[in-house]
Amino acid sequence: MTYARILGTGGFLPRRVVTNAELARTVDTSDEWIVSRTGIRERRIVASDETSCDLAERAARQALEAAGCLAADIDLVIVATTTPDRVFPSTACLLQDRLGIHGPAAFDVQAVCTGFIYAISIAEKFIKTGSAKRALVVGTETMSRLVNWQDRSTCVLFGDGAGAVILGASAEPGILSAHLHADGAYKDLLTVTEDGADGTDRVLAAASGHIAMRGNEVFRVAVTTLDALVGETLAANGLNQSDIRWLVPHQANIRIISATAKRLGMSMEQVIVTVDRHGNTSGASIPLALDVAVRDGRIQRGDVVLMEGFGGGFTWGSVLFTY
Ligand code: COA
Repeated sequence: MTYARILGTGGFLPRRVVTNAELARTVDTSDEWIVSRTGIRERRIVASDETSCDLAERAARQALEAAGCLAADIDLVIVATTTPDRVFPSTACLLQDRLGIHGPAAFDVQAVCTGFIYAISIAEKFIKTGSAKRALVVGTETMSRLVNWQDRSTCVLFGDGAGAVILGASAEPGILSAHLHADGAYKDLLTVTEDGADGTDRVLAAASGHIAMRGNEVFRVAVTTLDALVGETLAANGLNQSDIRWLVPHQANIRIISATAKRLGMSMEQVIVTVDRHGNTSGASIPLALDVAVRDGRIQRGDVVLMEGFGGGFTWGSVLFTY
């Protein structure tokens, strides 16, 4: 049996740190409000000339190095992003060119905060069926370009960054199962509109316009949906809660993360949390958190890890793997 195994990880954050105190100078908010409602203390924001592909390239090069791979070994490139550099070509094609990879399939996946989960599970299917041997899978975002910096209810939540993994064919267990879902009936609860207003304003095609969110409703659906998703993932693998060593959740809100950990009977020591320093980096948040925990030595080879995400669409999904 062929598994898709994570051979190496990488991550990259823009240099500029924006603290809650800095935001409180421009909108009516406070460090206390932001920390108590979300767990976010600071986020990173790109420079004016920095793009999602720039972040992706740095994360990808780090992942290649960690995996002991050359760019020439990669036969599939998938980039999860909601904030592509251009409408087309895809960020995956731009990244491929930067890395000097010529020929193999390259495409973007747009599933907002669940994008990386979608991307890695697609790559897994290529590997399992023998269509690819080494895949580069990246989540990269410049959400700061979609944020209305005058809207306190959303601007405090998001940040920029990129995370990457190299996935390789292996006889040893890697990804054990992937579970993807979407329900477009929720399209207006979390969306990008021309003026940031709620509802069905003209939705823009490219990375312009502003994020509009009905935060309270998103929160409630996220918690119940993730609860069911965790149950589905455990059942599909015949596992108990105690079989999972680490939870690497999408980093949107510490209260949503804690609710999922509780569902798994996990202490917060088993949960990789970066939302305090990164904010919500959408499709980049899961691979970034994974990279942090691999690099600091918490996640070790052989550990069973659950990644889960939830985002605009709504989309949601999980990937269970042995690292
Ligand atoms: N600073 C201070 N006050 C703020 C604020 C801010 N940054 N943002 C909103 N408020 C105010 C609101 O205006 C409201 O004031 P009012 O009662 O006078 O009308 C009050 O705080 C409560 O707002 P509410 O939206 O009910 O707060 P909440 O407890 O639901 O927390 C979120 C707001 C956004 C933190 C929370 O709903 C959330 O995290 N939702 C999920 C968002 C998410 O994860 N999105 C991404 C999914 S991938």
